Amino acid sequence: MRASALLAAVGLAACSGGGDDAARRARLGPNPTFAQVMRIADAHAGRRQFGQCAACHSLAAGGADRNGPNLHGVFGAPVAQNRPRFGYTDALQAHGGRWSAERLDTWLANPRATVPGTTMAFAGVRDPLTRADLIAYLRTQR
Ligand code: HEC
Repeated sequence: MRASALLAAVGLAACSGGGDDAARRARLGPNPTFAQVMRIADAHAGRRQFGQCAACHSLAAGGADRNGPNLHGVFGAPVAQNRPRFGYTDALQAHGGRWSAERLDTWLANPRATVPGTTMAFAGVRDPLTRADLIAYLRTQR
């Protein structure tokens, strides 16, 4: 019974293009690695999840900076340099490097623990699959 339910769930994920959350979660083991979670990340689900960012961030090319900087092209971009006219904090500028998937994952899990002193007043996204979906969506917007 269990195995067939799981098979049905996997089939459902295939039919919905990976968009069914419960089915996708069923495919992940209890302690998936970041790479495993990213492998089933779904940009369409991330697009829906971006609603929790949209009060502060636009994502369209040429979109305005709001409370936070426009995020078009931020995936892979140097940290705190994607929008030169945005007033990034010294703390975020000092974070350095580029926004890889791994670094976005850490940041989105808990911005203020990752970069103490940041003004991104956002508690973070606790769920790894939701973060992966968001990252997959950001990756399509560049
Ligand atoms: C309450 C407003 C707010 C919310 C909600 C918010 N952010 Fe931010 N975000 C900011 C601010 C402000 C900064 C700039 C922080 C700094 O300079 O320290 C920022 C910075 C960022 C950066 C770095 C940008 C760069 O150019 O280096 C990323 C990536 C980012 N946010 C992603 C997200 C995502 C994805 C979400 C939703 C899951 C989100 N943010 C939710 C305000 C917000």
